[in-house]
Amino acid sequence: MNSEGKARLKQASGKKEKIITISEKSPEEKLYESLKKYEIPDYLLYTGADGTNNWLKLEGYGTFPVARQLKIMLEKNVASIIRFIPACMSLVSVGVGNGEKERVLLEELIKKNRAEKLASEKVSIHYYPVDINNQFVDIALEKVKDLPVEKKGIVGFIEDMPLLKKHWHLPVLFCILGNSFCNYEPEFLLQLVHENLEQGDLFFFDANLIPAQGSGEEEQSARKSILGTYASRENALFNIYPLLQYGMAPEDFDFELLLAHVDSRIGALYRTRKSLNILKDAEIRIGPETIDFKEGDVIRMGFTYKYTYEQVLAFLDICGFEVLKAFLSEDRTNTMILAKKRI
Ligand SMILES: C[S@@+](CC[C@H](N)C(=O)[O-])C[C@H]1O[C@@H](n2cnc3c(N)ncnc32)[C@H](O)[C@@H]1O
Repeated sequence: MNSEGKARLKQASGKKEKIITISEKSPEEKLYESLKKYEIPDYLLYTGADGTNNWLKLEGYGTFPVARQLKIMLEKNVASIIRFIPACMSLVSVGVGNGEKERVLLEELIKKNRAEKLASEKVSIHYYPVDINNQFVDIALEKVKDLPVEKKGIVGFIEDMPLLKKHWHLPVLFCILGNSFCNYEPEFLLQLVHENLEQGDLFFFDANLIPAQGSGEEEQSARKSILGTYASRENALFNIYPLLQYGMAPEDFDFELLLAHVDSRIGALYRTRKSLNILKDAEIRIGPETIDFKEGDVIRMGFTYKYTYEQVLAFLDICGFEVLKAFLSEDRTNTMILAKKRI
């Protein structure tokens, strides 16, 4: 996932509250270029009007509870998180999606701000919803339109964090919510965040976990539940949508999802591996372009790490973060962590 170094800056026409920092290539052009390389990076599943609707639908399904469980966890614990956050802090949330979790955080931050400040020294809270999908940024802005915060949406890639940060008012609470943390190489993401946060900024993220690593029954049942969630019909449909939309039939290919061990500096980790395996010669038409796939071709897709809680803490430690407050659900399948750069 990257914006191919073509990031540029422009103020969205007529909308002062939004800044666009990504290249002008349409989602279709990007999909065409990726498919030619036998790849569909995950971010393309979220782009365009269809990507917006598909994600909003998937998030609402009972069989794909990841984002919803994390929202419930946030609602339950928001008051205790906010205790660690200075009332004047700006909120930046990357991969904001529909912005529901951010509203929960902002409401609590506003309450704290009101309780702590005298009217004469009123300090505004700045909010920056960031997403690669323009529509999600609009939805997130709309979601907080009645809240007394200064809002500026940013359409951009997290990979361009050095460029994004030029737009925000310090100090920031930098959020990556909805299990997005697990969709990146851990050290790449944590180094990126570490390099671009200032002393005084805070980092807040959540993750859906595997409760245990080992060879016991517990691990078998955890594996089964992960595969059940990610291989569910609804998640499969979300992943295969680009092929169906551009002309393939469901019987032309198979969606495969595996859970494999991968090596890392802190030992073996679980990571899902997704691919679309072509079963019959078939053609895809994207605008004026066509791509032919042959039986046996494999289209590689994105991945999700499934860490244990201890593994997340180990990565934070080796990447120079200090945990201020961590929450772990009783069944050890969900966590939320507030951290800062170690001095
Ligand atoms: C799993 S969804 C999470 C949405 C939301 N945070 C939630 O909790 O429901 C991932 C979000 O990240 C966005 N996204 C994907 N890749 C991104 C990238 N490289 N940079 C910024 N946003 C990205 C997607 O458009 C999508 O809105």
